Amino acid sequence: MFINLRRFRKLQIAQVLTTGLVLSVVMLCWEELDHHVVSHVRSYSYRYLINSYDFLNSSYTLSPNDRQRRFGNFLAPTPLHPYLINQLEKCSDSDDILLLLLVKSSPENDQRRRNIRETWGNEDNILKNLDANVKIVFVLGVHPDTTQRSKSQARIRKENRIYNDVIQQNFMDTFHNLTTKLIMQFHWFAKHCPKAKFVMSADDDIFVHMPNMVRYLRSLEEKSVTNFWVGHVHRGSPPIRRQNNKYYVSVELYPWPSYPDYTAGAGYVVSRDVAAKIHQVSQILNSSMYIDDVFMGMCAQAIGVSPQDYVFFSGEAITRYHPCIYADMITSHGHTDDVKELWKEATHPKVKELSKSFLKNLYCTAVKMALLCLPHKQNTYGCMGAFTNT
Ligand SMILES: *[C@@H]1O[C@H](CO)[C@@H](O)[C@H](O)[C@H]1NC(C)=O
Ligand SMILES: *[C@@H]1O[C@H](CO)[C@@H](O)[C@H](O)[C@H]1NC(C)=O
Ligand SMILES: *[C@@H]1O[C@H](CO)[C@@H](O)[C@H](O)[C@H]1NC(C)=O
Repeated sequence: MFINLRRFRKLQIAQVLTTGLVLSVVMLCWEELDHHVVSHVRSYSYRYLINSYDFLNSSYTLSPNDRQRRFGNFLAPTPLHPYLINQLEKCSDSDDILLLLLVKSSPENDQRRRNIRETWGNEDNILKNLDANVKIVFVLGVHPDTTQRSKSQARIRKENRIYNDVIQQNFMDTFHNLTTKLIMQFHWFAKHCPKAKFVMSADDDIFVHMPNMVRYLRSLEEKSVTNFWVGHVHRGSPPIRRQNNKYYVSVELYPWPSYPDYTAGAGYVVSRDVAAKIHQVSQILNSSMYIDDVFMGMCAQAIGVSPQDYVFFSGEAITRYHPCIYADMITSHGHTDDVKELWKEATHPKVKELSKSFLKNLYCTAVKMALLCLPHKQNTYGCMGAFTNT
């Protein structure tokens, strides 16, 4: 009896301790959760009830002096940083360029560039197999580590001698310099490839289903779209105020509760007229906002362009591997080692077969409903994707 009672006490103590532990964990998470929920509620309310971002133009417009100091003459602006490697002839062979694709890469990511050149980003194959003129350049800064820089530069120059597809400016290639890289991309378009009908900016770990992309762009071209910006749209995202977060933004830098709409930087497309206007406005706005996708949203807001969603552009997420998905996919994000395998699978003739008959279409709709509409840890494309005909 006595022993039993002692055991009972021990159990009780253990129970109290566990409860305490669980409670404190919940409280800790609660603070996190609370912060998350509150900032999102505020941000969505702002986006959907007020939806005015006029403050951006007035708060971020540079004074004429600052602008002059950074870019020189407005009509023939100098680049923000000098080019170390440039491609002056890339776009001069044709007036009929469907797409200029600017891949944001980094000095050490040569393997990713190689994968892209050998698969979806091979200009010669695109011309031969899809009869489309697509230009691809890799956009780089310099290695941030000064001790490795000269070796890194030698390798990049060697790589570029073979492929002639690298552009590089003299700024440190770091996460917090991505907006500098964005400005560089639109400068290069405006200066060296202004006739491209569409301009795409993409990460170097993206997969582009080039046959689908070309088909999609051709359908847009037929409609002569202008004022056009498409991708995976973020609406009413709040600035993240937690200092340990990669995307932390201080109140001084961005005091408002909500960002303007923008597309995920993983991969988005703009029409030529938008690219030209973004280039101009990027010289007028204060570019201290270092999250490049958000800065793009601010630029677009200032010129009155809003992004639109297309379900087969992915945001952060990686594709669901299935031929029925490949039949529609435009981009998928987060590919480094599987690019070759995926390219083979996604462009296999059997994928095209899938859209040929009523039964196969029915089958694919069912598969896509299972893959896209049921809750999964990561969804590339929304449930809409199951019902969107491409
Ligand atoms: C961005 O690049 C410039 C020029 O190289 C450099 O001075 C600066 O420190 C870089 N900024 C960050 C945040 O890496
Ligand atoms: C740009 O904005 C930042 C942060 O608000 C500010 O510190 C900086 O002085 C501004 N730069 C110019 C040139 O106005
Ligand atoms: C300010 O922003 C609005 C969109 O909110 C835009 O339509 C307008 O053209 C901008 N004004 C200037 C002077 O850039």
